Amino acid sequence: MTHILGFGGYSPTRVVTNDDWAKALDTSDEWITQRTGIKRRRYAAPDESTMTLAAEAAVVALKDADLTPDEVDEIVLATDTPEMMTPDTAALVQNRLGCRNIPTYDLSGSGCAGFVQALDVARSRILVDPKTILVIGVELISRMISQEDRSTAILFGDGAGAVVMGPDGGQAQVLGVVAGTDGSAAEILTLAAGGTRNPFNSDSLASGDYNRLVMDGRKIFVEAVRRMSEAAVEVVEKIGRSVGDVKLVIPHQANLRIIDAVRKKLGLEEESVYVNVDEYGNTGSATVPFAMWEAVGNGRIGEGDLVVLTAFGAGFHWAAAAVQF
Ligand code: ACO
Repeated sequence: MTHILGFGGYSPTRVVTNDDWAKALDTSDEWITQRTGIKRRRYAAPDESTMTLAAEAAVVALKDADLTPDEVDEIVLATDTPEMMTPDTAALVQNRLGCRNIPTYDLSGSGCAGFVQALDVARSRILVDPKTILVIGVELISRMISQEDRSTAILFGDGAGAVVMGPDGGQAQVLGVVAGTDGSAAEILTLAAGGTRNPFNSDSLASGDYNRLVMDGRKIFVEAVRRMSEAAVEVVEKIGRSVGDVKLVIPHQANLRIIDAVRKKLGLEEESVYVNVDEYGNTGSATVPFAMWEAVGNGRIGEGDLVVLTAFGAGFHWAAAAVQF
């Protein structure tokens, strides 16, 4: 069995509104709201980093689980915006929290599906070797992508979410996970530079590739709707239940129109699907754990509820999890 023992989240305090963007770029509150449903997003302060955001969320999750950092046996962290290329952000979080010399891993580059994939990795680790694992989804996107490209900059925010997982106890049980990848679609969402194909150098600086997010928004839209809704149905069927049994779906928060299309495909009412993209924008692999933490805290999830997490991101990767509270 794999259980969730604690939930955590962290959102930076600096709020950037659509009107703030309209002052900086050729865009408007009306365009952003109509196309994405986003009204505000949070940006990390100069003295914050991917590691500090992750550690803040982890501290909240550990407190919720009534555990101390030295009781953690492993850390799995999902991010596309790491503290540095090497070593992994999880190692820095281990040191920051004051954990023992436990193993840590980053699941990097898995885009917005990263947290649900990390949850699946942690779950299988616990099934073969019962232990306490801290699972984190974190992004500091505002510092990684161009702040001058209106087609991508306005979509994202910074943040972190975390859960503590273990073999028993706690508030919820992970009943099943499904996941998939279609690497043939990798080029539709990618960072233009920063790897061995196109390293950071004077050429990528001159061309603007160094912080350019290459994105085919329309193709992503269609694939995100299809994969997130199919994965949600698949995971519910895998555990022998039906969509009608689901109290709340927590989809990756990329865009209100995507979330709405997923909801309609699943045949659900608005109250059955969690939305906070208006407030935080797309925080990548942090959206799902942050929203789950928020939903537990504000009473949208209660004891006995079946909750489905479903996410989609660069790769393309998708993953969905069924969680019984
Ligand atoms: N403000 C004003 N105009 C803009 C902006 C902006 N911020 N951004 C783009 N435009 C313009 C475009 O240049 C285009 O102008 P043109 O017609 O003169 O060429 C026009 O708006 C329309 O662009 P479309 O691509 O047709 O707009 P669309 O309705 O597809 O919406 C959007 C674009 C919001 C990006 C949508 O495709 C989308 O949300 N796709 C999903 C992308 C996504 O979520 N990416 C995040 C990472 S992936 C993930 O999290 C799953």
